[in-house]
Order: sequence, then C-alpha cells, then structure tokens
Amino acid sequence: MKEITLESEIRVCSYEELDQADKRLIDEAKEATRRSYAPYSHFHVGAAARLANGSVITGNNQENAAYPSGICAERTTLFYANAQYPEEAVETLAIAARTEKDFLDSPIPPCGACRQVMLETEKRFNRPMRIMLYGKKEIYVMEGVGTLLPLSFGAENMDV
Ligand code: THU
Repeated sequence: MKEITLESEIRVCSYEELDQADKRLIDEAKEATRRSYAPYSHFHVGAAARLANGSVITGNNQENAAYPSGICAERTTLFYANAQYPEEAVETLAIAARTEKDFLDSPIPPCGACRQVMLETEKRFNRPMRIMLYGKKEIYVMEGVGTLLPLSFGAENMDV
C-alpha cells in the first residue's frame, strides 16, 4: 500500500497588504453582496472577476422559491464573465459574504459546484485563476483553482 498526500498552499494576508488592484476587487465583491437576491437564506454572497483585459465583472447569489433553481455568486459571476467576454481569461476572482448583520470574520469557502465551475474556467483559458476569499479578519489568496479542488475531474479524465 502507498499513500498520496495532496497539499494546498494558501497565502493569508490583511486587506492592507494587498495591492491597489486586489483591494479594488475585494471592494467590488463586497459591494456586490448588496445586490444579491437572498430572501430565503439571508446570506449574501458577492464575487468580482478581473479579466485579462482589465474589465471587472461582478455577480452575486440569486435564490429561488424552488431552492435548487437558485445559483451561487461565483457561478453567476463566472458565467456572466464568460458569456460577455468569451475570449478573456479570468485572472482573479474575489469572493465575499455577509449575513444581514455584517461580513464574515473568516473567508468564505466556495461550494463544490462552484469549485468545479472555477476549474473549468481556468482550464478553458489555460491560465491559472487567482482566488481571493475575503474575511474581515483575514483574506486567503490562492494562485490557482487546484488549491481549492485537488484531485479534480476534468475533460482529460474522459480522454477527450
Ligand atoms: N452561496 C454562494 O453564493 N456561494 C457559496 O460559495 C456558498 C453559498 C449562496 C447560495 C445560497 O444563496 C446561499 O449562499 C446560502 O447557501
């Protein structure tokens, strides 16, 4: 028998340690939470994607009375970005979340379905997509989706 160990590297930093462009992206993700439609969970998630051409696209969670018909902020944002700019890689994706009261202290970890969609976006443009998860106390910065989704499934596994 042998074991495989998968390691993920996450940089933990404060807002002040980010450069101007990353600060702006975090600000946009936070602002996007204000426009979310979350009448059921009252949990407001926002995301902001910086594309290779410098455009910033924002999105948020959109819920539905038929719960599974709703969609997370990350997928709203990536699908919108890819729909509007099919040729532009997503360079960095920032994510923030708040309850009705306030933003969360700790970074919000994206759900599994969103991680899979992030992976597809990264593969589609053949370029690592940076991810920033905002928390009031600390921000996680990852240099690619593999950090969030090790041992992932992709088209290459189907040998296509
Ligand atoms: N949600 C997101 O938008 N992103 C995540 O990564 C986790 C969860 C949304 C889905 C739903 O509208 C609400 O948060 C509660 O699960």
